Amino acid sequence: MSYFKKLILIAVATFASANAVYAEYVHITTPTTSMVVDANINDYIKFVYYGNRLDDSELGNLAEAGVSWLPAYPVYGVECQREPAMSVTHPDGNMTLDMKITGIERYTDKDGASIVAINTTDRHYPFDIVVKYRTYPNSEIIETWAEATNRQKGTVLLRQFASASMPVKKGDVWMSQFFGSWANETRLEEAPLPHGMVTIKNKDGARNTHTSHAEIMLSLDGQPREDIGRTIGAALCYTGNYEIKVDTDESGYHHFLAGINPDNSEYNLRKGETFVTPPVAFTYSEEGKGGVSRNFHRWGREHRLAHGDKPRKILLNSWEGVYLDIKEHEMHQMMHDIASMGGELFVMDDGWFGTKYPRTTDSNALGDWTVDTNKLPNGIQGLIDAAKNEGISFGIWIEPEMVNSRSILYEEHPEYIVCAENRNPRFTRGGTQTVLDLGNPKVQDLIVNMVDTLLTNYPEIDYIKWDSNSAITTHGSHYQTADKQSHLFIDYHRGLVSVFERIRAKFPDVTIQDCASGGGRANYGYLPYFDEFWVSDNTDALQRIYMQWGTSHFFPAIAMASHISASPNHQTGRLVPLKYRTDVAMSGRLGMEIQPKDMSDQEKEQSRRAIADYKAVRDVVQFGDLYRLVSPYDHKDIASLMYVTPEKDEAVFFWWKLEAFQNQYVPRVKMAGLDPNRRYRVTELNRIDRRPLSFEGREYTGQFLMSNGLEIPLGHDADNHLHYDYASRVLRLEAL
Ligand code: GLA
Repeated sequence: MSYFKKLILIAVATFASANAVYAEYVHITTPTTSMVVDANINDYIKFVYYGNRLDDSELGNLAEAGVSWLPAYPVYGVECQREPAMSVTHPDGNMTLDMKITGIERYTDKDGASIVAINTTDRHYPFDIVVKYRTYPNSEIIETWAEATNRQKGTVLLRQFASASMPVKKGDVWMSQFFGSWANETRLEEAPLPHGMVTIKNKDGARNTHTSHAEIMLSLDGQPREDIGRTIGAALCYTGNYEIKVDTDESGYHHFLAGINPDNSEYNLRKGETFVTPPVAFTYSEEGKGGVSRNFHRWGREHRLAHGDKPRKILLNSWEGVYLDIKEHEMHQMMHDIASMGGELFVMDDGWFGTKYPRTTDSNALGDWTVDTNKLPNGIQGLIDAAKNEGISFGIWIEPEMVNSRSILYEEHPEYIVCAENRNPRFTRGGTQTVLDLGNPKVQDLIVNMVDTLLTNYPEIDYIKWDSNSAITTHGSHYQTADKQSHLFIDYHRGLVSVFERIRAKFPDVTIQDCASGGGRANYGYLPYFDEFWVSDNTDALQRIYMQWGTSHFFPAIAMASHISASPNHQTGRLVPLKYRTDVAMSGRLGMEIQPKDMSDQEKEQSRRAIADYKAVRDVVQFGDLYRLVSPYDHKDIASLMYVTPEKDEAVFFWWKLEAFQNQYVPRVKMAGLDPNRRYRVTELNRIDRRPLSFEGREYTGQFLMSNGLEIPLGHDADNHLHYDYASRVLRLEAL
């Protein structure tokens, strides 16, 4: 142990507990919260407390107040009834674990985070589990995970290997979870926890958030509220298959567990090998779900997201504008149009590559990352030069983990794909797409080299959209030995993360979007390598309100790519006015996904003004604290949220009407997060009305805005009154 580590070795507090043992409390703190586990040497780790921050005297009397003494990291074998975090089979067939604490360390890691490590070892077998907790200065998040090491002769089979477990006292506990599907991602569902087991899981193999999400909130005081109520947020930070369980058994507790999905993933842990589980990030707030979201957003921006401190550029992506039909002159025209509207970046999406099998259809060319010079006679450099002429940056789409059977790569290396021996591959998109075996180091090198070549040859590429459009099928690896076939899902993601790390080590500055058939990879496991994610292939503004609402529970606006697209919308066919489409996109990382040549001059001018307005408040949206005000899920005919700077000197208020009826009444929205004692001047952004709003330019105290609010007209007094059924407002509030 280093001198430095010894110096800050944990000073564990020793208290006589009601259970007549000497509790050795490990007190893990954030500015406002405490997590306490009892780590008595020779005993198992007991979960004692998670909640508001405790002072020393409260800590000293905690046991007498009544605590669970349930295991903080339950293992299978001695007590068999409880859901375990870890279960194993030792080389001699013994299926039990019986862990005792051998020591506690506290140290600072290379990023300045504080780590507490509680070392445990089996009472008989040389098998260790270290349970770790990580906190950052000024962050309300506690990350925890486990590391298992086999020191015995022979291989230990890991059957279950969750990252973390937490008992939550029964009461009126509700769970908020996120569900969905392609083009309908991250929908919110809230319900009281039932008896029995709730399991939230993913088995896609490659992507993990189209359907369920690996984040939940637990509202301890009944129906979830935005502003009040004790609320725990938990996010498993992992790129692959996961499983979250909440077991409500006969005890007085709900038992939360989260980790890699062990289904078809038994892991053979060899002698000397350590299995590191992904972290679960927890937070606790008494400001309801809103408090939990703000804690996650701050931690996300400061510690988890690539470049979380840098404002994002306003971009035009070519996908819904031209789909695969990339043409050089049209790329130039799109660049010119977005530049003239004030955009800062153009991203050429799918369709630019493939020689032997040109990417004119989605059945061709994945794996062959050479420019199609029939489409782009002047290649990528020609596009970069054109972007430079327009004064904007250039970005490009890739899907490096995938291959089409109609590609040179597949013809030369059919063994590179994920596929079981003695089985024909099962192809997905385009009838020919499948997944490369990222567990194979040669495949990892291939992908790193492809990205390296692209970014080295074209150092002015500013942005990459990294896509992933297939699930893993035909479970098996030509590369792995028979005893490691069950490692496929885990090895895939270890390989993928190692690819990300190698690319980021060499290209730390490039902006990278994480996309997976839309919102298939919105998880904090990805975000250390990515600047943002694509929320959904569904760009319909009305449906986006619901999806972005769900997304906002854990992810900050800066990471939430949100684009203005065409009307009728390409996914839903819905006709939505440009004003409304823009006002929804402005509540996230604003971009466009449209063919601007199909827009009228008036629409282009409207977008130019909206982009200028967004620039004025970009920092408030992208770095501000989010307050969700009226939920679209509450059927109040409107939805509303706002962002407030941490200094409370500026805010942006969003209001969208969801339904239109004659003689309709909607609630007046009370604002939140402002300084009650300051006065704020109100200005409307992206205004289309002929006349200003009655409160335009007027000043109100934060107190008034938060207790009364402003009456928002239900429609627009605009030339395009045909779209009266849609109404939306964006208000800027500036403290005087
Ligand atoms: C996925 C993405 C889209 C687009 C297409 C290209 O579906 O989510 O945004 O990039 O692939 O094929």
